[in-house]
Amino acid sequence: MRIAMIGTGYVGLVSGACFADFGHDVVCIDKDGSKIDALKAGRMPIWEPGLEALVKANVERGRLEFTTDLKAGIQGAEAVFIAVGTPARRGDGHADLTFVFAAVREVAQALEAPVVIVTKSTVPVGTGDKIAEILAEEKAPKGTSVASNPEFLREGAAIADFKHPDRIVVGAEDEHARDVLREIYRPLFLNKAPILFTGRRTAELTKYAANAFLAVKISFINEIADLCEAVGADVQEVARGIGLDNRIGPKFLHPGPGYGGSCFPKDTLALLRTAEEAGVLQRIVSTVVDVNDKRKASMAGRVADALGGSVAGKRIGVLGLAFKPNTDDMRDAPSIPLVQALIDQGASVIAYDPAAMEQAERVLPPIEYAARAQQVAEGADALVIVTEWEEFRGLDLDRIAKTMRGRVLVDLRNVYERDEAERAGMTYFAIGRPA
Ligand code: UGA
Repeated sequence: MRIAMIGTGYVGLVSGACFADFGHDVVCIDKDGSKIDALKAGRMPIWEPGLEALVKANVERGRLEFTTDLKAGIQGAEAVFIAVGTPARRGDGHADLTFVFAAVREVAQALEAPVVIVTKSTVPVGTGDKIAEILAEEKAPKGTSVASNPEFLREGAAIADFKHPDRIVVGAEDEHARDVLREIYRPLFLNKAPILFTGRRTAELTKYAANAFLAVKISFINEIADLCEAVGADVQEVARGIGLDNRIGPKFLHPGPGYGGSCFPKDTLALLRTAEEAGVLQRIVSTVVDVNDKRKASMAGRVADALGGSVAGKRIGVLGLAFKPNTDDMRDAPSIPLVQALIDQGASVIAYDPAAMEQAERVLPPIEYAARAQQVAEGADALVIVTEWEEFRGLDLDRIAKTMRGRVLVDLRNVYERDEAERAGMTYFAIGRPA
């Protein structure tokens, strides 16, 4: 099968490389010449475990190519995937489809034979219908059809998620599109991944419903964590106690500083806009958006409380800046409002992140950056764990405590146990665990 992938961002590049690894011939297309040059030279535009090796192996096997030339890139393809960005639109928060529609128009004008156009980007319900209208306007070859195949991969675990999905969702309105997508995903059926064929609108909505539900789960456990703190219960045990119920499930019940990243914040807002346009209330998701924003904004207050009420004049060491481990992605990271508030309230901040410091410099106010974890503790009044990178789980707390001025550990990810921190002479603050 020959596949063209338009957009070499997160979803496009991972999907393109994985499809090539399945044995398909894949051409990844991007307008950004510097990105394509870098990819050709084996340099990845994103930080994702295993991606560089996967790209390299498939380029060497001749199954994966990169180009800026859309017209040449799509010729001979049976499927053209659209994986360009759909950022939140300024003003109303709805998904901005400018790039999607521009790509479709360009494809329609360049096509010489019919293809299946597949949206992989997260797009609002009805986008497939609008794409079909553009194809008609541009007189795309007869038989060209549109399908929706949303992506459920997580940053940091993207390749494993792509190759071992819980399910594949394909929304299509014609048999040919279903056949092409069935063929593309055939290698995964051998691994028994269920494939769900639905209507196009249903597939589009499924993606938003999945992300919104996960956001609900996280916000739910975050609020239960607050309640645990007030009544002296342990949220870790509550999460385990409810998660062992199959109907609830153990995943996405880790309390923390609020969800961030490029998906949940953007997709929950877009779902609300879709609902508004349809005249339907979505009170749960709307509340979750509000709860999560307030939670992120309240994290600096926790640090102040741990320091007796104020951070003014204090030196705060921050461990972890990326919105989650194994990525350098800073989009909507909880570290942003936290660091900003600490600075606004008169603290000085020194931070370390294994991958995201370069990205962080672009979005954080000026702060100090450390070359390693140990260094952020030196002379600090408090140490705050914001992202649960693996390397922060095994810190030598005894050694760290000795170099600190204040010996306060604020663990926003519940990485440590209270007694191990206290044995090191630290005052320990967790999320939702008894004091
Ligand atoms: C999320 C979904 O998990 C993917 O299935 C989906 O494909 C993706 O969005 C997308 O739409 O592209 P991602 O944003 O990469 O993936 O990261 P997650 O692992 O879901 O984490 C999102 C945020 O929730 C992070 O800030 C994380 O710290 C937070 N989180 C997650 C919690 O606070 N608690 C949890 O239990 C789980």
